[in-house]
Amino acid sequence: YIDNVTAMEVMDSRGNPTVKATVELSDGTVASAIVPSGASTGKREALELRDGGDRYMGKGVLTAVENVNTQIADAIIGLSPFNQAMIDAEMKALDGTENYSNLGANAVLGVSMAIARAAADSLGMPLYRYLGGANAMVMPVPMLNIINGGSHADNSVDFQEYMIMPVGFEDFAEALRASAEVYHNLKKILKDANHNTALGDEGGFAPDLSSNEEPIQVIMQAIEKAGYKAGEEIAIALDVASSELVVEGGYRLESENRTVTSEELVAYYEDLCSKYPIVSIEDGLSEDDWEGWKVLTEKLGDKVQLVGDDLFVTNANILAQGIEKDVGNAILIKPNQIGSVSETMLTVRLAQRNGYKCVMSHRSGESEDAFIADFAVALNCGEIKTGSTARGERTAKYNRLLEIENEIVYGEYLGAVLFS
Ligand code: PGA
Ligand code: ZN
Repeated sequence: YIDNVTAMEVMDSRGNPTVKATVELSDGTVASAIVPSGASTGKREALELRDGGDRYMGKGVLTAVENVNTQIADAIIGLSPFNQAMIDAEMKALDGTENYSNLGANAVLGVSMAIARAAADSLGMPLYRYLGGANAMVMPVPMLNIINGGSHADNSVDFQEYMIMPVGFEDFAEALRASAEVYHNLKKILKDANHNTALGDEGGFAPDLSSNEEPIQVIMQAIEKAGYKAGEEIAIALDVASSELVVEGGYRLESENRTVTSEELVAYYEDLCSKYPIVSIEDGLSEDDWEGWKVLTEKLGDKVQLVGDDLFVTNANILAQGIEKDVGNAILIKPNQIGSVSETMLTVRLAQRNGYKCVMSHRSGESEDAFIADFAVALNCGEIKTGSTARGERTAKYNRLLEIENEIVYGEYLGAVLFS
């Protein structure tokens, strides 16, 4: 049974405080988990509880920590750690709101993840095996964010993420190696062109480029220079994070000095997809532009993976509306958008049953905790987005996946079939 539950304030990758929760079991097992934090958050995400005031510029999480140490601990000490759904439901009931605005989703998710990890450790099982059972076998294709823009960097680029997807490889390790080679070649190309090669929040470069198309062009050069076939071996994915671009009358593309309507933005994507091997576009339109999303899905949904992040916020109820209205064909999975391990699993099940692809995802503010690497394999997501091949909080996830691939004997890497 659960013997003790505690939390403390620790640091995330952006220098902001976050919650680390620790669970102790009666058999002596001790396990912890650290909660991530977003910058371009969706409006309908579960609430991240921050203290306000002057301390840490208002971003302290001592109230969330206190909620773990008192209310949550009181409610779940004595319960079995092997009934994840029951514990998560207990915390949800204790909170009493839809979006965890009492306890804080950061408090609840930290405990939820730590419970899962403690249960796995107690059984002597890897976390992916405990959460996914014998059927956990798919190694995810990574989406590596190698050029950062939008609210993840202080450069001129409007689109938030330019990613590569190593689709044409036999296994995860080879895919990661090829991706790292593209990353290094990209650095050289940017350096030779006198661009800044400092890194953004997710480990990608953040150069000032003169349009939203130019990053794609330099990535195409980097793929070629690394000796790979663009499209066949390395494909391209975008996260526009367009909810951040909304202004009166449309979407503002500052680097191109123009404001466009949803229709014009969709036409822009169609043009980019006809010129480059783009296989996935995330948040191509804003979280409130469901009409635009319908058009986007009609125009590009057959050819391109259209991922809802701010749009669906890992929420099964909102995803159900998307399925009903034929909006998008994939969902980004961020546990802290919804607040617990069990609710995340429910959303993934709903997506998979309805043919929506699932992309497990980090946040722009991360930690050394690699929970999502195990979680992606447990749920056979097939795809994971966790930054570039630089910055320790990003490589922690890739390194964990390398370990998992070594352990899974009958593992499957979906690259070649995913977008065929
Ligand atoms: P966030 O960005 O973690 O800052 O919300 C990630 C994303 O938009 O996918
Ligand atoms: Zn996103």
